[in-house]
Amino acid sequence: MSNYVPNKNRYQGMKYNRVGNSGLKLPAISAGLWQHFGETDVYATCRDIICRSFDLGITHFDLANNYGNPPGSSEEIFGKVLRTQLQGYRDEILITTKAGYDMWEGPYGEWGSKKYLIASMDQSLKRLGVDYVDMFYSHRYDPETPLEETMRTLDLFVRQGKALYVGISNYDLENTRKATRILKELGTPCLIHQPSYSMFNRWIEDGLQDYLAEEGIGMITFQPMQRGLITNTYLNGIPADRAARLAEIGITEPRVAKARKLNEIAIKRGQSLAQMAISWVLRNGKVSSVLVGAEKVSHIEDNIAALKNLDFSIEELNQIDSILKM
Ligand SMILES: NC(=O)c1ccc[n+]([C@@H]2O[C@H](COP(=O)([O-])OP(=O)(O)OC[C@H]3O[C@@H](n4cnc5c(N)ncnc54)[C@H](OP(=O)(O)O)[C@@H]3O)[C@@H](O)[C@H]2O)c1
Repeated sequence: MSNYVPNKNRYQGMKYNRVGNSGLKLPAISAGLWQHFGETDVYATCRDIICRSFDLGITHFDLANNYGNPPGSSEEIFGKVLRTQLQGYRDEILITTKAGYDMWEGPYGEWGSKKYLIASMDQSLKRLGVDYVDMFYSHRYDPETPLEETMRTLDLFVRQGKALYVGISNYDLENTRKATRILKELGTPCLIHQPSYSMFNRWIEDGLQDYLAEEGIGMITFQPMQRGLITNTYLNGIPADRAARLAEIGITEPRVAKARKLNEIAIKRGQSLAQMAISWVLRNGKVSSVLVGAEKVSHIEDNIAALKNLDFSIEELNQIDSILKM
């Protein structure tokens, strides 16, 4: 991999969707570097996943200050790959980072104050080894800090040239309305919202996705495979030695039973279950991009093939809905 040369045909198989009313386009599938990208993971695997993603037309890499074990190591790993394998390709790549969750000790190491966000942005730029990120998100709504303070800081980052665009993540509908109005007044429109969304988690259908569409704000969703639940991994049963830990993230036998039924539909569609999970999120064009995590290169290769079949018949959608309601 030391002489990595990106695939010349990398833009041919990917679909690029406009983000809301902005000038920016995102690949329909983006790479999330939360899990499996830390100091405790094998560097060569992380590097290969990033390079293979780029070869497949994935131009967008999603990070946050706290990603990786220890927190921050995901940004360091991505920065190293950028400096080595991807040197010279910065202008073909979108780098996203965020701040909001616990990052360092004390009262200034999490949430949405200007003090925390400014320090976090500077740390992220250093770890990544870049002068600016393409998108910066407030990672979660802070009920104690005035929204004006958090949004003014996002606006400041754009004015300072430290971020090209800004977004919010995990904000509910009411706080999304407030935050996006403030950003609009400041002259830095909210580019994008990053909520969770999957067949098992449909909260955004309750108003948020319509509001974003009306306002011309893009949407990139995370956890389409529900942390591995909607993949082939557990179809033959949950390993007893991991059952307690997996239950904590919602991977339980009753839900796996539903995944088995969903898999029957996926097989008829000629897709793996993971592919159908991703296609389902992208099915109606309301989501600009779907973030997928990967533990190995074959996950990315499997997931990207979802783009070959994004259409669902009414019958398939009804069948999926009735399985999920069971
Ligand atoms: N904004 C936020 O608050 C927030 C929160 C969470 C995530 N995110 C973003 O979303 C990204 C994705 O999240 P995620 O990793 O939790 O969710 P995910 O994409 O639903 O699940 C990814 C996991 O599923 C398994 N997997 C992926 N492809 C597979 C395949 N083809 N076959 C079998 N298993 C497969 C892998 O885990 P195993 O091999 O371990 O099963 C992988 O780590 C993150 O990296 C991050 O960028 C954002």
